Amino acid sequence: MIKIITVIGARPQIIKAAGLSRAIKENFGSQIQEIIVHTGQHYDENMSQVFFDELGIPQPDYNLSVGSGKHGVQTARMIEGIEEIIEKENPDAIVVYGDTNSTLAAGVAASKIHLPIVHIEAGLRSYNKKMPEEVNRIMCDHVSTLLFSPTKAGVDNLIKEGFSTENKPPYNMDNPGVFHCGDIMYDNSLYFSELSDERSSILEQNNLVSNEYVLSTIHRNDNTDQSERLSGIFEAILDLIVTFDIPFVLPLHPRTAKLLEVNLSKDLYHKVTSEKRLKIIPPVSFLDMIALEKNAKIIVTDSGGVQKEAFFFKKPCIILRPETEWIELVSCGAAQIVGWHKEKIKKAFTQYFENEHTSFPTLFGDGKAGVFMCKKMLETFENSKS
Ligand code: UD1
Ligand code: UDP
Repeated sequence: MIKIITVIGARPQIIKAAGLSRAIKENFGSQIQEIIVHTGQHYDENMSQVFFDELGIPQPDYNLSVGSGKHGVQTARMIEGIEEIIEKENPDAIVVYGDTNSTLAAGVAASKIHLPIVHIEAGLRSYNKKMPEEVNRIMCDHVSTLLFSPTKAGVDNLIKEGFSTENKPPYNMDNPGVFHCGDIMYDNSLYFSELSDERSSILEQNNLVSNEYVLSTIHRNDNTDQSERLSGIFEAILDLIVTFDIPFVLPLHPRTAKLLEVNLSKDLYHKVTSEKRLKIIPPVSFLDMIALEKNAKIIVTDSGGVQKEAFFFKKPCIILRPETEWIELVSCGAAQIVGWHKEKIKKAFTQYFENEHTSFPTLFGDGKAGVFMCKKMLETFENSKS
């Protein structure tokens, strides 16, 4: 039996954790004990609890209730709390997801006391260190013992930074194991897709017709915090609604909701809030989100997770960022990078609206990434005990 601590904090990590918890429960229940630590980075009911209720994730054993704050304050509080829990629980490894401040905090706390780190979603890079996430993921990768990369591009990035896929066990921080193993979110999207068909009524609730609306999400600090950028995006959306007479549904992240009135001019804010075909709704549950993704005509987003889910559900995606970690989506033509430029957004949208995109090759594994990760963790940490 090995004992792992899983650290989650932000919405996408809670959803990702459902994949691993399910793999453990279904296949390794007698071999892996999982302790869940929620840092409390996200805390609104619709940014956190809804996912536990709906996706069958065990309730967290600990909640640090750190909440929002400046990077340093937020991360420091998490480090302190996670260190205490590690000392109390004495696990064999700590599992972290992605690139948020919760990921970094767990990486710092664990590495300093020599607890092996398992990084799920290792190797992704935007090559833009002004993104807080880029710094978080680089730092975490470089202190990890097992690095699970969802894509080949991720593994190639790690190799560029001096990692090797040839390392042999026993693995440790200085001799880490690097694996290309598929995407835990692909596992989840496959698993929850049918359940979403059965349970979600989000389309009816918002008077949306399948294939006759656009789904959009916006939360990246680069877009929300700068007036010019947020305005470019919303001006483009308003123009597209009129030109194509198509509604947009926008489940709005609380960060963006708080900044809309602050960073849009009075006039633009008024237009945004009075356009009936722009349906701004609170964040939705994952089953509702899948339903919105599966039935959208086009997806317009700055989210990492939503870009990929667009691809899983064979929808063209317009990426409201100057770069992406998921470069395969762009290489195969299923997504276009447009940043926050009004005209670029409109041009890419028009192309996808007028020409159906049909190439969605298999890029993210076989839907069994979670099982692969559990096997590797067992091999690595059971052997390190003997
Ligand atoms: C964080 C991650 C980002 C990830 C995103 C997923 C970092 C640095 N960023 O960004 O990589 O893509 O989560 O959604 O870790 N807020 C609420 N209620 C909540 C949570 C947040 O109102 O439950 C508001 C607060 O005003 C807060 C702001 O959103 O200050 C930003 O939250 P924070 O967790 O700091 O960053 P995100 O933008 O959510
Ligand atoms: N998501 C959700 N409800 C929403 C918006 C997003 O369930 O209202 C899900 C989405 O399907 C994806 C994840 O949250 O699985 C992405 O999270 P987010 O966009 O906040 O962060 P990122 O992936 O950019 O880090």
